Amino acid sequence: MSIVYDASAKTLSLNTRESSYQMQIGPLGYLLHGYYGRRAEGNFTSLHRQKDVGFSPVPYELAEKTRGFSPDTLPLELSGANAGDFRLPAVCVSLPDGRRGADLRYVRHEIRKGKYALPGLPAALDPDGEAETLSVTLRDETLGLEAELLYAVYESRDVITRALRLKNIGGGQMKLEKAASCCLDLPFGDWDLLHFHGRHAMERQPERQPLLHGETRIASRRGESSHQHNPFLILCDRHATEDAGDCLGVMLVYSGSFEMALEKDQMDALRLVAGIQPEGFSWTLGPGDCFDAPECLLCFRHDGLNALSQRFHRFLRRDLCRSAFSEKARPILLNNWEATYFDFDREKILSLAREARDLGADLFVLDDGWFGRRSDDRSSLGDWFVNEEKLSGGLEPLIRGVKELGLRFGLWVEPEMVSEDSALFRAHPDWALRVPGRKPFLSRSELVLDLSRPAVADWIFETLKDLLARYDIDYIKWDCNRSLTDLWGFAPAGELAHRWVLGLYSVMDRITAAFPQVLFEGCAGGGGRFDAGILSWFPQIWCSDDTDPIERLTIQRGTGYGYPLSSIGAHVSASPNHQTGRSTPLDTRATVAMAGAFGYELDPGKLSEEEKTRIRAQIRRFRGYEKLLREGDLFRLTELGDERDYEAWQLVSEEKDESLLSLVITRPRANAKPLHLRLKGLDPEGRYRMENYDVFDAFLPEPAEEQPGEYSGAALMYAGLTLPRMMGDYPSVQIFLKKTKE
Ligand code: GLA
Repeated sequence: MSIVYDASAKTLSLNTRESSYQMQIGPLGYLLHGYYGRRAEGNFTSLHRQKDVGFSPVPYELAEKTRGFSPDTLPLELSGANAGDFRLPAVCVSLPDGRRGADLRYVRHEIRKGKYALPGLPAALDPDGEAETLSVTLRDETLGLEAELLYAVYESRDVITRALRLKNIGGGQMKLEKAASCCLDLPFGDWDLLHFHGRHAMERQPERQPLLHGETRIASRRGESSHQHNPFLILCDRHATEDAGDCLGVMLVYSGSFEMALEKDQMDALRLVAGIQPEGFSWTLGPGDCFDAPECLLCFRHDGLNALSQRFHRFLRRDLCRSAFSEKARPILLNNWEATYFDFDREKILSLAREARDLGADLFVLDDGWFGRRSDDRSSLGDWFVNEEKLSGGLEPLIRGVKELGLRFGLWVEPEMVSEDSALFRAHPDWALRVPGRKPFLSRSELVLDLSRPAVADWIFETLKDLLARYDIDYIKWDCNRSLTDLWGFAPAGELAHRWVLGLYSVMDRITAAFPQVLFEGCAGGGGRFDAGILSWFPQIWCSDDTDPIERLTIQRGTGYGYPLSSIGAHVSASPNHQTGRSTPLDTRATVAMAGAFGYELDPGKLSEEEKTRIRAQIRRFRGYEKLLREGDLFRLTELGDERDYEAWQLVSEEKDESLLSLVITRPRANAKPLHLRLKGLDPEGRYRMENYDVFDAFLPEPAEEQPGEYSGAALMYAGLTLPRMMGDYPSVQIFLKKTKE
């Protein structure tokens, strides 16, 4: 049993293998938070001394007895507004007569086998039948609001999921002003915040900062989870490193506007409130109506950031993503975007596909520009029929040509947007979001289709269904190249942003169920919607429009704190790089792209024979490492913020019988220090043979010393390895280790 109710202490304990979470039904039905941390048995309620804190209010019924019991200072499982707690609220409703807030008290709880479901929303599944659910119902009798707190415990995964269902149990209408998914009070500790910020072509830059008094917010108001902030953060002990220390990861399973707000309060306690962005949100609940807030994933580890990332990776791959591709080898693709942009015809595409086949790829992807009259980014979104000018004869002979080469075929679409210059917009101008009386904002000449309107969601589904039913398509790159503005449309303004996301989810759910054999890759101007909501259906997402491998080291590192490598779309592109102009060696580009869903995005016709031979070797190499890269445990070998001249990471198989070390020199140095590394995650008792020791694109000033072929795991981890001195621009190394005996 991973969830235990102790009737005498009135505690509810949630245990995973390495973590414990406890709450207590306190006086007057307050649901108090007890503990979340490293696994420990016991009753933790006495940790929270009730103390008279000046100006913190006491419930009327207790005022005679104590001045120490205040919702403003005690850790709570769910905080309501206007109910004696001045810290960040998680829930707020308002009634037509002006009453506002939420004073929520315990009514009942239930523990059951299996995982709760959230209608219309993505949520973790229970593929191994190990989840247990705790439902705790709280009520505000006066306002007529019921809150059901949902927790699912995945014992072997060290993950606890949370969700919140709000119900109007009164006789009239109420408005939800705030409905966060998770409220988490951490009364003790000295926490740093690790979060992932950025911009287009520079997503998920890791940034670690101490949490000081006051409020800190990570948020998006863009209608999508965004390039600028990611709905994932880590709270870690001030002294935590990649390999030691308390770390708590919080990930929203949501793709729309969100807010993760933190408050360090007067007693130095920390509160986190995470969920849908409350600004502009207002949701009407009629009598008996329910509202489900999106799911939130929590994971606590006492042994550092690497362990935390590994738990999220496994959970997202196995328990969250419902695509059959999630746990399978993905095709190595060649995408024509950076090879041709909009400038192609049938012959060009077929010649690229021929080259892709000759290099050893599995899948050819036709990117933007194949439809309507699209010759640049100013027209035709919504007109999902072939551009006969470019592809005379249509898609069918083109796909046949690609298939005859023995390749699979993939296609780019951007179904949520519409161009003003399109047949679709001319037929349905009211399908685009816009505020009456105002010209809408354009972004890349695009308008946003109103997915809150069921007819629009149905049209998108039917259009994609026709495309997939009519043509032999194996892969879809699903793009979304702008944010939401001009929120006025079918749904009421306060509901529109969330209903838009629900509309998107309904299309994703229907289309992936109808075509389970199709591999879907998410995209949003690169990585503008890289989140667990999208990853519930699509096993991979294009990580960034920046394909420069040196830039990608940071972008992919940041992404990899929460998201598995198998979800991170990463391609080898041309050099000099189209986004930065930097020149990098071909094999270094591959070393970096292999830490992701691997592919190519260049014109092989422009490569020399020597480069093509190298690419064939890369593809062979990748196939050999594929399972390890996709399923292995990721260890970052460098600390964030360290002054260093290289980036290094390692994958170790679950059985610890294989490992791949990758390293890229990011800054060449004169008179460089010896480059010494300690490996991680191996079996100290085991012996490992260096099956491959590849140094790519380096000039070695000293002859490489003879490497002993075999080492113990202990030697590799405790004494480490010193690499040969490498000179030149951005050389890289891959070392593949295989265990020879126990
Ligand atoms: C976005 C994507 C790119 C490419 C273009 C096409 O920017 O991230 O990979 O598909 O759109 O317009």
